Amino acid sequence: MSKVTVVGAGNVGATVANVLAFNEVADEVVMLDVKEGVSEGKAMDMMQTAQLLGFDTTVVGCTNDYEKTAGSDVIVITSGIPRKPGMTREELIGVNAGIVKSVAQSALKYSPNAILVVISNPMDTMTYLALKSLGLPKNRIIGMGGALDSSRFKYYLSQAIGCNANEVEGMVIGGHSDTTMLPLARLATYKGLPITQFLSDQQIDEVVKATMVGGATLTGLLGTSAWYAPGAAGSLVVESILHNQKKMIPCSVALEGEYGENDICIGVPVILGRNGVEKIIELPLNADELAKFKASAVATHNTNAALKTVGAL
Ligand code: LAC
Repeated sequence: MSKVTVVGAGNVGATVANVLAFNEVADEVVMLDVKEGVSEGKAMDMMQTAQLLGFDTTVVGCTNDYEKTAGSDVIVITSGIPRKPGMTREELIGVNAGIVKSVAQSALKYSPNAILVVISNPMDTMTYLALKSLGLPKNRIIGMGGALDSSRFKYYLSQAIGCNANEVEGMVIGGHSDTTMLPLARLATYKGLPITQFLSDQQIDEVVKATMVGGATLTGLLGTSAWYAPGAAGSLVVESILHNQKKMIPCSVALEGEYGENDICIGVPVILGRNGVEKIIELPLNADELAKFKASAVATHNTNAALKTVGAL
């Protein structure tokens, strides 16, 4: 039996659980939240869609009862506060660091062999916190951000080209940050052809910029952080792990010399399978891309330093 726990049944957590159930990624999905009744209610609501949508996954909700999460194969952490319009993801660190650390510790007590997928923001820093504080091997700690940013990149590319988003390939690496993430336009393709055949430099530039502030654009429209694409991206990551699909997905993982970086979790393409991070793919970046990746790593290191200031490390 396969089992996934989603900690935090807010918009993102509930959407992860909903997509996992709809796609029958796991036999059982447990949603846990601190708010009395919320995860139970959302789980019941989802279970009432089972016969409408035809899925067999069981979704269970519980209020802070970690025992119910026991024996999970994957634990998805979405707990913490989302950003409000005008806020950066980095501003959430003071509140979210303590929450992420404590819920991860509680969940791992009951599922000591689980692979951890971190979604809470600031995502790269929360992933790094998990790496430094939980004592898990690095292959079992995965931050989801790049999967989401890449889906936004492909969306904006398809809009600009006027094509089907499923026929576009593209990756975003670097930190999950409005200012430093790195959509790899040079390597993006439409049906295997470079996007430069379809878009002008200016159009590509606009796509890159829109991708970088993709989350902030939605926060401005919604008044809170987005959830459909973050939830679906979380499910994609869990599915590649649980079903041993070995998909290449940009995720925030611990680097030990790859891309010239150390002591950091940041977005790079990885192969995800039953062991979590099975391989880190080193892309042949050009000098400009490498410089941008470095700048993103510097910004991420700086945010990570705040973990000490707030007493989380
Ligand atoms: C976003 C949040 C989840 O980018 O970071 O929408």
